[in-house]
Amino acid sequence: MSSDNNNFKEVIERALGPVQEFLNDPGVSEVLINGPDQIFVERRGKLELTNAKFPDEDNLQAAINTIAQSVGRRINKDEPRLDARLPIIEGSPASGSRIAAVLPPISRQGTVISIRKFTASKITPADYIKYGTITPDAWMFIDLCMFLGKNLIVSGGTGSGKTTLLSLMCSRIPKGQRVLIIEDSSELQVEYEHVVRFETRQADLMGKGEVTIKDLLKSALRLRPDRIIVGEVRSSEALELISAMNTGHKGSMGTVHANTPEDAIIRLEALAAGGDAKISEKALTSQVASAIEIIVQISRYGDGSRKIGAISEVRGIDEKGKYIVVPIFEIKALKRLPNGMLEGGIEPTGNIPSFYQEIVDNKINFPLTKFQKPLKVAG
Ligand SMILES: Nc1ncnc2c1ncn2[C@@H]1O[C@H](COP(=O)(O)OP(=O)(O)O)[C@@H](O)[C@H]1O
Ligand SMILES: [Mg+2]
Repeated sequence: MSSDNNNFKEVIERALGPVQEFLNDPGVSEVLINGPDQIFVERRGKLELTNAKFPDEDNLQAAINTIAQSVGRRINKDEPRLDARLPIIEGSPASGSRIAAVLPPISRQGTVISIRKFTASKITPADYIKYGTITPDAWMFIDLCMFLGKNLIVSGGTGSGKTTLLSLMCSRIPKGQRVLIIEDSSELQVEYEHVVRFETRQADLMGKGEVTIKDLLKSALRLRPDRIIVGEVRSSEALELISAMNTGHKGSMGTVHANTPEDAIIRLEALAAGGDAKISEKALTSQVASAIEIIVQISRYGDGSRKIGAISEVRGIDEKGKYIVVPIFEIKALKRLPNGMLEGGIEPTGNIPSFYQEIVDNKINFPLTKFQKPLKVAG
């Protein structure tokens, strides 16, 4: 380990001393600091209040300042929010963690920090099936969408598992392509041969040097990508992503914050419309509709589990100008078991994807029967 790394490790250890035990605890996935006196942790998807505290608010602010500085970012009165990722350093607490913070008086109870730990033990498709996140057939369907290069959006709330799912999907892109990944902070764990990664940059103290996702998307288009992946689509860069999808970058993907596939596509349109481009609403709707082919909805449920709730196909717009979003797989009902866990999963809806012939032509073994609604046994 280099002395730089050693130094970094010590700095973070000192700054985050009061929550060190949680950072070292592999069972904890997230540490949530709500001011110096209240610290929660997430274990197996459930929140637990801890007894840990920071000595006082000054101490907590000093900690977040140190962390921001250590990764070349800032948090202060003028810029009271931070969104950063710590580098991956072996043996360092919070290695690779994503840190978000808001300072008072914006946050009302002192400095608020969330530390989402980087899970070195990666979730695999097998885990997905074991945890009940998806069924083998529905996973196979996602896999074949990757193979066929469908343009796809992952939709879900915060912490629902969007980034994890996008990582898994990226690893299923067929060999031989050039994949460009654009993120605010590098988070996607992608096992793929030919990947080029970009990360955005904040403006400096003079307000210069900012590089946004939108900027990076524009550059990306000139760098001969086969597919473009945007970690989180949060603002007007949605328009560039949609254009990329419509101009031959088959198999491009991104995530968006929404609660249903219908909301996801409407949100994408709203984000795209927020830019400075002059494009009529009607033209935009039809561009979005032709760009997006598949929307995968993932959610975090009351029992702490993450489940894929719907895999839907976008089939253009109807005569009223509304998006036609057709579920191919969907969760119909979940049963609460005596232990509080939710049983059940995603099922075929009976709707057959419009690109079924493509599945056949590519000799993918996914028979029509897999789209049939399961028969319900009475009683
Ligand atoms: N299928 C899953 N089952 C259980 N935990 C999961 C699953 N997918 C993700 N997680 C965990 O949930 C947390 C949030 O995942 P992440 O993909 O970062 O969510 P998002 O990008 O939606 O905010 C991580 O700790 C991750 O390890
Ligand atoms: Mg994410």
